[in-house]
Amino acid sequence: MTLAEFGAPTSPPEVPSELISELRTIVGDRGWTSDPADLEPQLRDWVGYARGATPIMVMPKNASEVAAVVKACVAAGVPIVPQGGNTGSVAGAIPQGEILVSLRRMNRIRDIDAADYTVTVDAGVVLAEVQAAANEVDRFFPLSIGSEGSCTIGGNVSTNAGGTAVLRYGNMRDLVLGLEVVLPDGRVWDGLRRLRKDNTGYALKHLFMGAEGTLGIVTGAVLRLFPKPVEVATAFVALRDLDASIELLSLLRVATGDALSSLEVMPRIGIEIAREFDPEVVDPLSERHDWYAIVEVSGTKADGQTESTLEVALGEAVERGILVDATIAASTMQAKSIWRIRKSLVLNLPKVGAEVKHDVAVPVSKQPEFIRRATAAVEETVPGTRAVAYGHFGDGNVHFNLCAPLGMDASTFTARAADLHRAVYDIAAEYGGSFAAEHGIGIVKRSEMKRYRSPVEIDLMRQFKALLDPDGLFNPGKVLP
Ligand code: MLT
Ligand code: ZN
Repeated sequence: MTLAEFGAPTSPPEVPSELISELRTIVGDRGWTSDPADLEPQLRDWVGYARGATPIMVMPKNASEVAAVVKACVAAGVPIVPQGGNTGSVAGAIPQGEILVSLRRMNRIRDIDAADYTVTVDAGVVLAEVQAAANEVDRFFPLSIGSEGSCTIGGNVSTNAGGTAVLRYGNMRDLVLGLEVVLPDGRVWDGLRRLRKDNTGYALKHLFMGAEGTLGIVTGAVLRLFPKPVEVATAFVALRDLDASIELLSLLRVATGDALSSLEVMPRIGIEIAREFDPEVVDPLSERHDWYAIVEVSGTKADGQTESTLEVALGEAVERGILVDATIAASTMQAKSIWRIRKSLVLNLPKVGAEVKHDVAVPVSKQPEFIRRATAAVEETVPGTRAVAYGHFGDGNVHFNLCAPLGMDASTFTARAADLHRAVYDIAAEYGGSFAAEHGIGIVKRSEMKRYRSPVEIDLMRQFKALLDPDGLFNPGKVLP
């Protein structure tokens, strides 16, 4: 589908040439580009929905420059789209003719404090660099997502990113202590407090997290750090059936003293897809099974207990009939090889044929029932659809992604995307679920807001938007229906 089909604006805004000159002056020679070759990768998203447009990408190097850019654009009545690593799945950072403000040159780690367990960073720092900086001072920054080598902290904050360690450490929202934000009126809100407790009125920072740049541009953040796990035990297990995933979760949380950091479930077809396109993927178990999980337990003490605790817990799960087989990685290499199955599945799924994605959340215990019902519903909608339901089962977050039936061409399948979405999201809604668990709304899911969020919620969101951005110049056409 094209962005216009998702309801994106079709005619680009008028951008006066005086504004372009002013922006160039603000950010200096190295702070802007209009070269189509530079812009091209910033104007398409990796999922393939978006082909964007912009007259200029500016790359301010600090919050004051961002504020000056904002003031100039607002004075000229020209809209702005902020962008970090451009790794989103819902076209939330793709401009449609607006000024593109890239935060990538704001890439400084401003301060790291091991005693306070905090790191203060510019919004454009790449997530993997924050993880590495924490590691250097014997600390741990737990956010872990497939795109961590290129996504940025500002994007992680603005989409409230999730990933594979939410079960133990929470979403990005839980990892942020303070924020610095450039507001649509050009003021800089300095909320970079590194406090664990701060009940001083409304929690303003939470407004900007998950707002996808529609209320302001996040330029800096104070993040929480954790003790560094020095022992990590990783296992690949075969589940008795899908319901066993929930029994396993319950058992492991207790048996490991809540040291379970990941529980990722995937079906057999997931391994087959990973192996078909990635020769380095190996099936860790000798027999074939319908459902598998990757389990990770981590400990901050180097006493050899982490692996033995997992071993005992998995033994109990086998005895109780929850698992039919299991293997624990004997080395870091083997652990990497287990995680490679998960990564390859996600990267290669689009190659199987057209992919129709769903990033759904339901209450943890309802995931098996949801998957069974949604699988039947998509089969009824487009017979032969191959459902690949995998994801962060510790969080109730199912990536219910669909591949075209064998022999059906991509465009015939994606033409039915709206019907497939309806079937899946309606079932999630019955469980009090969400149609956007961790990827956000962007342009792609904007129209779903009206159906699945109440008029009261939408009205409140519109009021916040009108208060902060009365002219609607911040990331227009995103998030709000
Ligand atoms: C993941 O968990 O790897 C991604 O969120 C999956 C996806 O993009 O569908
Ligand atoms: Zn995910």
